[in-house]
Amino acid sequence: MRIVSELVASTISTELAAMSSAIALVFLLFQLLLAVASAVPDSSCLTKCGDVDIPYPFGVGINCSWGIRFNLTCDEVETGVKKPFLFNVEVHSISLLMGQLRFLNPISSACYNTNYNNVTYTSWWINFEDTPYRFSDLHNKFTAIGCDTLAYIIGSHESNISYQSGCVSMCEDEESIVSDSCSGMGCCQTSIPKNLKFYEVSFDEYFNNSAIWRFSRCSYAVLLDAEWFEFQTSYITTTQLMQINSGGRVPVVIDWAIGNETCEVAKLNLTSYACISNSSDCVESSNGPGYLCNCSKGYQGNPYVSDGCQDINECNLQPNPCSDGICQNLPGNYSCDCPEGKHGDAYNGTCIPNQKLSLAVKAVIDDCATLCCFLDTHENIAEPKEKQYPEVLFMSSKDPPRSLSQYPTRLSA
Ligand SMILES: *[C@@H]1O[C@H](CO)[C@@H](O)[C@H](O)[C@H]1NC(C)=O
Ligand SMILES: *[C@@H]1O[C@H](CO)[C@@H](O)[C@H](O)[C@H]1NC(C)=O
Ligand SMILES: *[C@@H]1O[C@H](CO)[C@@H](O)[C@H](O)[C@H]1NC(C)=O
Ligand SMILES: *[C@@H]1O[C@H](CO)[C@@H](O)[C@H](O)[C@H]1NC(C)=O
Ligand SMILES: *[C@@H]1O[C@H](CO)[C@@H](O)[C@H](O)[C@H]1NC(C)=O
Ligand SMILES: *[C@@H]1O[C@H](CO)[C@@H](O)[C@H](O)[C@H]1NC(C)=O
Ligand SMILES: *[C@@H]1O[C@H](CO)[C@@H](O)[C@H](O)[C@H]1NC(C)=O
Ligand SMILES: *[C@@H]1O[C@H](CO)[C@@H](O)[C@H](O)[C@H]1NC(C)=O
Ligand SMILES: *[C@@H]1O[C@H](CO)[C@@H](O)[C@H](O)[C@H]1NC(C)=O
Ligand SMILES: *[C@@H]1O[C@H](CO)[C@@H](O)[C@H](O)[C@H]1NC(C)=O
Ligand SMILES: *[C@@H]1O[C@H](CO)[C@@H](O)[C@H](O)[C@H]1NC(C)=O
Repeated sequence: MRIVSELVASTISTELAAMSSAIALVFLLFQLLLAVASAVPDSSCLTKCGDVDIPYPFGVGINCSWGIRFNLTCDEVETGVKKPFLFNVEVHSISLLMGQLRFLNPISSACYNTNYNNVTYTSWWINFEDTPYRFSDLHNKFTAIGCDTLAYIIGSHESNISYQSGCVSMCEDEESIVSDSCSGMGCCQTSIPKNLKFYEVSFDEYFNNSAIWRFSRCSYAVLLDAEWFEFQTSYITTTQLMQINSGGRVPVVIDWAIGNETCEVAKLNLTSYACISNSSDCVESSNGPGYLCNCSKGYQGNPYVSDGCQDINECNLQPNPCSDGICQNLPGNYSCDCPEGKHGDAYNGTCIPNQKLSLAVKAVIDDCATLCCFLDTHENIAEPKEKQYPEVLFMSSKDPPRSLSQYPTRLSA
């Protein structure tokens, strides 16, 4: 297996935008490689790098990951501090069950220099072409910050269809900035399409802060996790934004998937099929081609390793799913039974003592014969727990006696 990674220049021309004098590149390009179903990663593989958990199919080193595409490096960024990287991008967190990870995405900027009457641009791009990664359309928003700002996002889908969008943010003075709200006064946001694999930022040269540099010298733009982001006025009037995560890096949500096939096709080749645990299911990716694995209902763990999905013991959960019934754990499920001497709906915790027709009860029945009394001795009938009924059930004449079929049946878990 040969790994070839070569630097390619951006092929997307940006007539709209001034090209930057300082372009820094985030580069991600993997040579196409067939996914190789590796055995369970052995115990020498790292499961954590710094504070970040690294679940398989991710791993540090190709012998610990599901092929080259999930291979991370764990670098010491300063003495005693380790961080995981996918090529040169820092991985902030990995979500196995949602098929996501969070990167720290560097912020692009355009800053006006009063001394020289020119603008310093720093623009970043990321290329996920031929990788299992794509920007999450549901979680991310392209976000521009500034008071004389027109920022463009340039992208492409897998099929190389180019995509361009952007947003504009204007404000005349500090007072007109709407804090806490990214609504076009100091901050603007726009959505991105599904399956976005390439991303680049550029700025329009005619929106360059030259008229407002006294309170705002820079414009910023980045694709970021919209849930994480909270706009603050100080991002415009100070350099605070560029200090986030040492050097102006913000979380962006990346969706990942296994391969580029549907579940149906992937299951045909068990050698390369990734959902190898017992009691695991295949789930189609919701953003682009490929699939994900998940543990079946009632199981939890890692579906990508053999026997990774373990039965959940529902009876140990708080609160107990059977309430005061007797809980029995089953593979992928549980059952509830009423204790001996009681009957009812154990799943709903409504076990009531079995009834015996005593003389006292009979006397009550005789006494209230004219009142429309109803005595029910059927084993399976349960009443809601809150009503503390006596052993004999009285019902008002407006409610006719219920037939058995009107009683709720068992709760299906
Ligand atoms: C899927 O990936 C394989 C290699 O991993 C590649 O050969 C094939 O062309 C890809 N298919 C599509 C439809 O992209
Ligand atoms: C993959 O892992 C190897 C170690 O097995 C490492 O040397 C290499 O840099 C990694 N490649 C990437 C692209 O992270
Ligand atoms: C991966 O495993 C193979 C076979 O066990 C071994 O030859 C190779 O050196 C290992 N590579 C790394 C980077 O550990
Ligand atoms: C996997 O299962 C968990 C728990 O049932 C669920 O929250 C999650 O959304 C599932 N993931 C996918 C990709 O369906
Ligand atoms: C701005 O102009 C000065 C002086 O001409 C020059 O040294 C500097 O490199 C320029 N900066 C940019 C970003 O063009
Ligand atoms: C998309 O463009 C890149 C570079 O421009 C090229 O390497 C790649 O093969 C293209 N992909 C498709 C599916 O056309
Ligand atoms: C800044 O933008 C103005 C128009 O808003 C333009 O006239 C000027 O040339 C631009 N300056 C630079 C350095 O790009
Ligand atoms: C199944 O996958 C393995 C590993 O990727 C590959 O070597 C093999 O050719 C595939 N078999 C078929 C029938 O596609
Ligand atoms: C799990 O799978 C293995 C084979 O991979 C099988 O031997 C075992 O019986 C399975 N366990 C369960 C609980 O199904
Ligand atoms: C359990 O009780 C809830 C409300 O307490 C009710 O909605 C539900 O239908 C009951 N389920 C069964 C199976 O009795
Ligand atoms: C769990 O048990 C309940 C009640 O016996 C049943 O209705 C349900 O289908 C079972 N669920 C699974 C996943 O087996």
